[in-house]
Amino acid sequence: MKLKIAILAGDGIGPEVTHEAVNILKAVAEFGGHDFTFTPLLVGGIAIDKTGSPLPTATLEAALESDAVLMGAVGDNKFNSLPPDKRPEAGLLQIRAALGGYANLRPSIAYPALSGNSPLRPEVTDGADILFVRELLGGLYFGQPRAWDKEAQRAHNTMVYTRAEVVRVARIAFELAQKRRKKLTSVDKANVLEVSQLWRATVTELAKDYPDVTLEHQLVDSMAMHLMNIPRNFDVVLTENLFGDILSDEAGVITGSLGMLPSATIGGKVNLYEPVHGSAPDIAGQGKANPLGAILTAAMVLRHSANLEQDAAAIEKAVTKVLADGHRTADIARGGNASQHLVSTTEMGKLVHQALAESIDQRQAMHAV
Ligand code: IPM
Ligand code: MG
Repeated sequence: MKLKIAILAGDGIGPEVTHEAVNILKAVAEFGGHDFTFTPLLVGGIAIDKTGSPLPTATLEAALESDAVLMGAVGDNKFNSLPPDKRPEAGLLQIRAALGGYANLRPSIAYPALSGNSPLRPEVTDGADILFVRELLGGLYFGQPRAWDKEAQRAHNTMVYTRAEVVRVARIAFELAQKRRKKLTSVDKANVLEVSQLWRATVTELAKDYPDVTLEHQLVDSMAMHLMNIPRNFDVVLTENLFGDILSDEAGVITGSLGMLPSATIGGKVNLYEPVHGSAPDIAGQGKANPLGAILTAAMVLRHSANLEQDAAAIEKAVTKVLADGHRTADIARGGNASQHLVSTTEMGKLVHQALAESIDQRQAMHAV
């Protein structure tokens, strides 16, 4: 299997965690005899520093030529005073738009080994396994008109969706629900917003094509509460762009750390893979960052861009094992727990690599008999 992967490590902890994710992909390629190539490209603050643009043309062109784009994170405090279109984050939004993926898949799982890490009680988080499908190319992030009129002291953004934009992302959510526990929760604010009324009407109409999926609607405010009260109740959760941004960070609480969450954006010309966490400039370069979000993102690359489901699952299993064995980066360590072993970013990467190698060896041994 051949795969050309563009690597956009970006800012802050992006390069450190991406390095570990790439190592894992290299290991999978080696074990399976695959031909994966990795092309490092500039994006975000580092791209502004080196080229003046958060998304240089060379990056965009090479990303569009690749089979998958793996990102780290973008953003640095030194750009905080710049207008939105000049900031590192603009590079991220531009590449999302250019690659065209509109369905951002964000799984949030309660790992038994981390059940003590969540501020929620273990009996609340136990068994939670949610897949957010966040619409990624519409809503307030991209809606026109938008402006901050400094003189008039007035600013506005536009939340806009067409029926077609809702249909395409909702179909992906229904199909994913069919492969899982067959429940879809669609999130909106239909008691106030016309955009949400269109959203709800469209999703309700589509449900007829998926009779095996149970559809429910939740208002975003009460969804924020239900998610913390009974996370086990949710299977696939479909949201518009901003609601999904907010709820997917909230869902990090179920896992115990934002550093654990991966994401994949599908449906466009080239799939885009990025951990949910940001660039965390305060801990960058110190070996403290948790690479598991990025490594689990690498698993999603294999699942959604290479059809290597077995290898994707093997990476996820390796992560579960390393956690069960007590290894922890700082964000998921709990002080005073003797059964835990504090590790650096690279040590965590190596441990996953080791666990993965063992599980692939076992698989090959089973095939040999
Ligand atoms: C995310 C991030 C981005 C977003 C930012 C960095 C632009 O928060 O991927 O969730 O809002 O989409
Ligand atoms: Mg976010």
